[in-house]
Amino acid sequence: MTTTVITNIGSLVTNDPDLGDGPLGLVADAALVLDGDRIAWAGPAAGAPAADTAVDAGGRAVVPGFVDSHSHLVFAGDRTAEFNARMSGRAYEAGGIRTTVAATRAATDAELEANLVRHLREALRQGTTTFETKSGYGLTVEDEARALRIAAAHTDEVTYLGAHIVSPDLADDPAAYVDLVTGPMLDACAPHARWIDVFCEKGAFDGDQARAILTAGKARGLHPRVHANQLSYGPGVRLAVELDAASADHCTHLTDADVDALASGNTVATLLPGAEFSTRAAWPDARRLLDAGVTVALSTDCNPGSSYTSSVPFCIALAVRDMGMTPDEALWSATAGGAAALRRTDIGRLAPGARADLALLDAPSHVHLAYRPGVPLVTEVWRAGTRAA
Ligand code: NIG
Ligand code: FE
Repeated sequence: MTTTVITNIGSLVTNDPDLGDGPLGLVADAALVLDGDRIAWAGPAAGAPAADTAVDAGGRAVVPGFVDSHSHLVFAGDRTAEFNARMSGRAYEAGGIRTTVAATRAATDAELEANLVRHLREALRQGTTTFETKSGYGLTVEDEARALRIAAAHTDEVTYLGAHIVSPDLADDPAAYVDLVTGPMLDACAPHARWIDVFCEKGAFDGDQARAILTAGKARGLHPRVHANQLSYGPGVRLAVELDAASADHCTHLTDADVDALASGNTVATLLPGAEFSTRAAWPDARRLLDAGVTVALSTDCNPGSSYTSSVPFCIALAVRDMGMTPDEALWSATAGGAAALRRTDIGRLAPGARADLALLDAPSHVHLAYRPGVPLVTEVWRAGTRAA
């Protein structure tokens, strides 16, 4: 195995408090040693062991690769007209999903895969080294299963979201659609997925339907995550905690009981500020969650309707400006927080044994991700020990 030392790192975020200062485990004037696809050593450059090859970071900051734990990237078409209407005052509605369902069903496998790969490359260039993605724009047995098959060729973090909305084919009979989602569709989809998700919301699935769907998924070995409390107050967050979901996503409308439930359980609150940005909705209150002791992740929700951004740095900047997070908290949530939302310990940190996923920033510190919003600061990305962008 070849070892590589990355030297002259101006500021290194390890996310390991034993390796450096504070929760980010920050090390100034640092070095990293990579052994194959893993981190072998991290610390002050002066103490770095020798390696086969050396890379000079030129004083740039190095952060763990971003872990985008929530995206919807198997789709076709876009929803420019809907976005335009919203920016003229129209409200966001879950029903817009139907537009993408029609375009996705009409697309070939090759078109769907090419679109997925285009967005993955876009995300990688912006520092994302792990991403989760979902079905949810097929809503038939065949279309959901093919979405998951296509996704599974590009990531281990695949989520079955047959319960995105009730299929337009069964709009008059939601109970029959829930039976499909928990029956033949689950049979066809479970082999391709790790997770099961439900959009628990008015206009999508209520608490009882969501419980039935997630419980059926669990019985098939899928682990739950939930689109919860995005557009209104509701039962999603408490259901997520009750079922030990890895993550409750959105968390925009929370009662004190919802916050208490998150603080007492193992469910991460994944905040998706791209959705509030693109729907002109009120921001989720990250400060309230952090002060209550909740683990918070930050992700893009990249999809053609509510949040068409693949940029984690953009989400970090929004979270710092508008959601009460410090730059350190936002960086942690977009890396270690995303890993926690996927129940992974091998990513989201730069410590010995972790996968060598990292981004070099054209900046002296990670704080610039929020301080210099919109500036393409990610200049180099390594994934599993290899230069990937
Ligand atoms: O996470 N909330 C439900 N699903 C997506 C939106 C999907 C769409 O509008 O196409 C979301 O925001
Ligand atoms: Fe989503």
